[in-house]
Amino acid sequence: MLTDTLATANDARATKAIRPVAWADTIDDQSLDQLFRAARTHYHWLERPVPQALLRRAIDLAKMGPTSANTMPMRVVFVASAEAKARLKPALAPQNVNKTMLAPVTAIVGYDLDFPDLLPKLFPHVDARAWFAGNAALIADTAYRNGSLQGAYLILALRAVGLDVGPMSGFDPAKVDAEFFVGTRVRTNFLINIGYGDTTKLFPRSPRLAFEEIAHFA
Ligand SMILES: Cc1cc2nc3c(=O)[nH]c(=O)nc-3n(C[C@H](O)[C@H](O)[C@H](O)COP(=O)(O)O)c2cc1C
Repeated sequence: MLTDTLATANDARATKAIRPVAWADTIDDQSLDQLFRAARTHYHWLERPVPQALLRRAIDLAKMGPTSANTMPMRVVFVASAEAKARLKPALAPQNVNKTMLAPVTAIVGYDLDFPDLLPKLFPHVDARAWFAGNAALIADTAYRNGSLQGAYLILALRAVGLDVGPMSGFDPAKVDAEFFVGTRVRTNFLINIGYGDTTKLFPRSPRLAFEEIAHFA
């Protein structure tokens, strides 16, 4: 039933020629390994620089992931200079200091509470900005949900361009906001250390839940 429904949807799209490339069943095994199965969270980094061009590519991929009403609230600061790392350091939980100071780049993944101001550009066919006017709870909810989704797209996009990541929530977001987002309504969500991970320092992968523990068909 589910398969039939998907097949019908696929056929409809193919008939309308919306999709610019042929349908593939699943991306190849090497790509699945790079994105998911062999990819790990890294805490130790090789002394190999991360070109800014790769970070640009990752953002350009991640931004294509869906957000509600195309709100795109994620904002990112790529912290790479020693001066900027020093500004980030006091906000970090003690266990995250060394891994962050030694990472070639640390992304501060934030979300912009002023995202509705861009909706005339991003969702121009309706007055979407009006949906959020005066509704601080809806703005915060939408910004956090979609900013987090975009952060996850960014993690996968970074892996897709060959980089390794180490996401972190062990830090004081108010301190990061005060240091990097002062004068804006951008709020820090989480951090991502980025570089080429030292696989020799990895510990065994933690277990994952089984399909039945995560999902069921209704
Ligand atoms: C949102 C988020 C926050 C995390 N915070 C921290 C952190 O503060 N410090 C840390 O050492 N690891 C942190 N981690 C790493 C997780 O423990 C790790 O990704 C998880 O155990 C899976 O590891 P694996 O990718 O190697 O399988 C965080 C991961 C995520 C996604």
